[in-house]
Amino acid sequence: MDKQKLEAVARGIVAPGKGVLAADESFPTIKKRLKSINLDSTEEYRRSYRELLFTTPGVEEFIGGVITFDETMRHKATDGTPFPELLTSRDIYPGIKVDKGTRDLAFHPGEKFTQGLDGLRERLAEYVEMGATFTKWRTVYAIGKDIPTTYGYQINASSLAQYAALCQEAGLVPIVEPEVLMDGDHTIERCEEVTTITLEAVFAELFTAGVVLEGMLLKPNMILSGKSCSEQAGVQEVAEATIRVLKRTVPSAVPGIVFLSGGQTPAQATENLSAMNAIGRFPWELSFSYGRALQEETLKAWVGKPENTADAQKTFYRRAKLNSMARFGEYTPELESKTI
Ligand code: 13P
Repeated sequence: MDKQKLEAVARGIVAPGKGVLAADESFPTIKKRLKSINLDSTEEYRRSYRELLFTTPGVEEFIGGVITFDETMRHKATDGTPFPELLTSRDIYPGIKVDKGTRDLAFHPGEKFTQGLDGLRERLAEYVEMGATFTKWRTVYAIGKDIPTTYGYQINASSLAQYAALCQEAGLVPIVEPEVLMDGDHTIERCEEVTTITLEAVFAELFTAGVVLEGMLLKPNMILSGKSCSEQAGVQEVAEATIRVLKRTVPSAVPGIVFLSGGQTPAQATENLSAMNAIGRFPWELSFSYGRALQEETLKAWVGKPENTADAQKTFYRRAKLNSMARFGEYTPELESKTI
């Protein structure tokens, strides 16, 4: 393992002004996204939509890395260039989601664990051959009356650490993604409590597994009120609570923290990130790794029609640029209706 190389890649992905595009929707998830614009999930729609994103002119100013899915990693652009090569030629690090999704945790109603460790070492070797430079593994935690349980925290932290160690062994930067879900009527305080325990457990396991903190990125949720909580915390409260939790739990050796959007609207996700960066005074790059919040508007602008490609790319460029401004605390909601 070349620690310097891992650190250089991790830092490159979150270089100032840059973040990550999460375009790693699995087959069921991309089916949902395409259905939202009344399209069937055909292989060609999946390929051409990803090509639209990856060839957006100028977007490499704001996007340092793209997380793909196994099928996308094997796809080619219209001119025959494999997607990993296309991204690399634009100075965007190609990455790949390597977990195999979540399943119910036995004897623990409402809790999930993430599968995909079996054969992971061999799969990683293949992805390295294909040009991958980093990876992602997601665990999920629902908030409920008696959940997460101690076992839920522990087993998910353990899979993240095993995954991260295997990736670094293979020379790949792991993005460690423990996602505390927004669903539910819990308060922001409860989200803060659960996320704190989650991250404490994750870093304890990463340390025990020997993971090099300088050669990884963390992809957490923001600290938010539950989606159906009657009292919704405001932007400043979200920003302060999120930074407080991260300062308490994330070692400063970690180069970057890239948030998931988790169901926030594009504008909310951008505004919250900007508010955090405006507060400043933390040791890591604080950036984005959004799926829905980067793509929602683009999908709607495209709706599967080739003649809409240029407009859809402008839409994607614009949202990526707004998030890049949020990296410097320079986004304001007024920008949503302005030319930028
Ligand atoms: P969202 O930003 O849509 O939550 O997706 C990020 C992601 O990669 C989830 O695993």
